[in-house]
Amino acid sequence: MSVSLIVLAAGLGTRMNSDRPKVLHSVAAAPLLHHALTAGRALEPSRIVVVAGHGADEVAAAATAFDEAAEVVIQEPQLGTAHAVAQAAPLLADAAGEAIVLYGDTPFIRPETLAAMLDARARHAVVVLGFQARDPGRYGRLIATGDDLQRIVEYKDATEAERAITLCNSGVICASAKTLFDLVAQVGNANAAGEYYLTDVVELARKAGLSAGVVTCDESETLGVNTRAQLAEAEAAFQTRARAEALENGVTLTAPETVFFAIDTYIGRDAIIGPNVLFGPGVTIESGAEVKGFCHLEGCHISRGATVGPFARIRPGAELAEDVHVGNFVEIKNAILDEGVKVGHLTYIGDADIGEFTNIGAGTVTCNYDGVMKHRTRIGKRAFIGSDTMLVAPVTVGDDALTASGSVITEDVPAEALALGRAKQINKPGLATKLMAKLRAIKAAKGKS
Ligand code: UD1
Ligand code: CA
Repeated sequence: MSVSLIVLAAGLGTRMNSDRPKVLHSVAAAPLLHHALTAGRALEPSRIVVVAGHGADEVAAAATAFDEAAEVVIQEPQLGTAHAVAQAAPLLADAAGEAIVLYGDTPFIRPETLAAMLDARARHAVVVLGFQARDPGRYGRLIATGDDLQRIVEYKDATEAERAITLCNSGVICASAKTLFDLVAQVGNANAAGEYYLTDVVELARKAGLSAGVVTCDESETLGVNTRAQLAEAEAAFQTRARAEALENGVTLTAPETVFFAIDTYIGRDAIIGPNVLFGPGVTIESGAEVKGFCHLEGCHISRGATVGPFARIRPGAELAEDVHVGNFVEIKNAILDEGVKVGHLTYIGDADIGEFTNIGAGTVTCNYDGVMKHRTRIGKRAFIGSDTMLVAPVTVGDDALTASGSVITEDVPAEALALGRAKQINKPGLATKLMAKLRAIKAAKGKS
């Protein structure tokens, strides 16, 4: 069965009080739009159409960043949710199969819920996703008997009796593409808001002799983001669920409430994550690795048996092989650390390849940036980089080589060589006490004047 997704994302989101389109605000290090698309992607849609309006260029960029095949249509001006869906009609005119309408500002609908809606299409021409609201507020109300849906009434247009109904409209709707566009074309705007309401398709379907039905889901799935407070709520809800899932999957979280996950964080079984760890996008941690407290990781891969932190920053392009040890106040960026490499303390490793079992001394820096371009540092196997070595890239240090502490390495070091790149030490006997006596005399003279 082929499925087309239509994702509504044209609204300004006035109540966000922001220059940024609402659907581009982040939860778990990803725009709201990506959350909505993630649920839809599980259905393996043949077409994805995003309806953009406010900030259309940025919204389009975010849509295609998620899926190159996503198509974007512009809705200008924004005359309501049915008008928004109608903008997708020219693109999907010949689309066979099902169409599902999602909202870009509703991030938590589960794929299983969308699958249940597709199943319900066997019984109804139009299927709407509803939920029992603890506080129905301004949601549209579903007028239904059992799973048989008569119509949807918007809060603004509802009578007191209708407002007392707690079965509410999530906004997600499913029908055959043909039925959906036929019905949407008939929607008018004679209502309290003067808008073209997508919700009117239910009544129109029934007038045409088609049946409409409700599938329900938990209210937590339908959380819509309209304000910064709701954005914070959505973040908290995501994190609560991600922590519970990690624990369920056999990950130890010492202080779960202090660990923050991204939409795509993957952590293997028996990994241990200490307190106050933040995962940005694109992190995978293999089974049995340990991330100690106060680490910040993004775009990196940590292999089995590796230990990281406390207080380490692992940035995009960092690959830590098995049994690598990265200690405190170490930053790693765009670098491959082979098996057993140790970087214990106070170090910056950027744009580098480090061979297996090499030890990097405290205070080492790969000087990768000349102010214009970035350059790579290559270090072989079993090398020993002395403390406070400056590796001025591009530079190569061979297998089993050693650099003396405090060296500034500007030339390649051959395998098995010792490189000394620092001034030779000179000792002047007695000069320390003479110098101190002189300085004290100067201070005393100043005190008198
Ligand atoms: C809508 C539903 C309401 C439901 C609620 C759930 C209608 C008429 N009402 O109301 O029954 O309970 O969602 O959250 O559908 N959008 C466009 N173009 C437009 C208007 C909206 O793309 O012209 C997009 C918005 O960006 C947003 C979504 O559609 O992502 C919903 O629009 P919004 O104005 O928030 O609808 P509600 O009034 O909340
Ligand atoms: Ca809304």
